Amino acid sequence: MTLNASDLGAIEAAARCLAEGGLVGMPTETVYGLAADAGNASAVRSIFEAKGRPSDHPLIVHIPPAEGGDWRAAVAPLAREVPDFAVALMQAFWPGPLTLILPRRPEVAAVAAGGQDSVGVRCPAHPVSQALLVAARALGVPGVAAPSANRFGRVSPTTAAHVAEEFADLGDEQLLILDGGPCPVGIESTIVDCSRGMPVLMRPGMITPAQIEAVCGQPLRARDEAAPRASGTLESHYAPRAKVRLMDGKQLQSALDVLGADAKHIAVYARTTLRAARTVVQRRMPADAATCAQELFAVLRELDATGVKLIWVENPPEGADWDGVRDRLQRAAA
Ligand code: TXA
Ligand code: MG
Repeated sequence: MTLNASDLGAIEAAARCLAEGGLVGMPTETVYGLAADAGNASAVRSIFEAKGRPSDHPLIVHIPPAEGGDWRAAVAPLAREVPDFAVALMQAFWPGPLTLILPRRPEVAAVAAGGQDSVGVRCPAHPVSQALLVAARALGVPGVAAPSANRFGRVSPTTAAHVAEEFADLGDEQLLILDGGPCPVGIESTIVDCSRGMPVLMRPGMITPAQIEAVCGQPLRARDEAAPRASGTLESHYAPRAKVRLMDGKQLQSALDVLGADAKHIAVYARTTLRAARTVVQRRMPADAATCAQELFAVLRELDATGVKLIWVENPPEGADWDGVRDRLQRAAA
């Protein structure tokens, strides 16, 4: 069942659903999450089941904004140790599209953490998720575990309709979706591992390495073998049914020229203006990274829904502001 988040009683109903161990499709500024009470092991297990996600892939725990802005106190019930640079990141970017991996307190969120001795924590900026987190906490829900609300390995959802599409087989009593409109950021949060005494970038997003380094006052390391596993870091992820291929504008034009009028079952997403047969479905890629990120997953879904077999995408420009978009496209193409 989908409820409009601005309808009277909708947030309250969703909070009650969480407190009773149910699943909620929750809008955030990044993507929609499939939410459950992080303190309820069987509710958290139903997230893994609904997604078809391996149970050792940890989930992010979402918390409401800190009272009086005391982020250290806000994460204390979840995290054993919170380095100063992590608190600085919270102060700079929370509420917002940033997830921090922290050493986990043994007594909390074991199932949500997929058995890792760390926990991913985020305070989302979306007013609907904030209202839901506050209302749920009043009903005894300490935090809300939520991965992106898509089947494992598939394209993340940025509208309530995408969530309904992904979980069409779940009955009304199994999933309550809160419609908070299209997600304004559009790709998942930047993830920084803060559990090893230095900041390590686990997943690029719209908060850039330069912004993170400026706040931490130290270099942001790249992921290495010692880093904890993250499914957003699997080589193949975010995959539509059609095969995605990344190319430069020139390569794209030659590929279309070779096919000429024979070009069928192809969709193109490019900044460059291309000559192509009328059978080719074309979508223009926005010139700026934030606009592209905002529409990216919806565009992949739309192009996929036309029934094309191939989606040819122009390589995004160089530059750190495109890192998040480039990362999602490379995984969609892998
Ligand atoms: O923007 C977002 O982060 C969205 C919204 C709903 O908040 N959530 C999201 O969740 O993208 P998910 O589960 O699709 O991706 C979270 C990533 C996964 O790759 C997971 O493995 C990683 O975060 N992760 C979570 N907790 C972790 C931990 N303790 N250690 C290592 N990786 C962790
Ligand atoms: Mg995901």
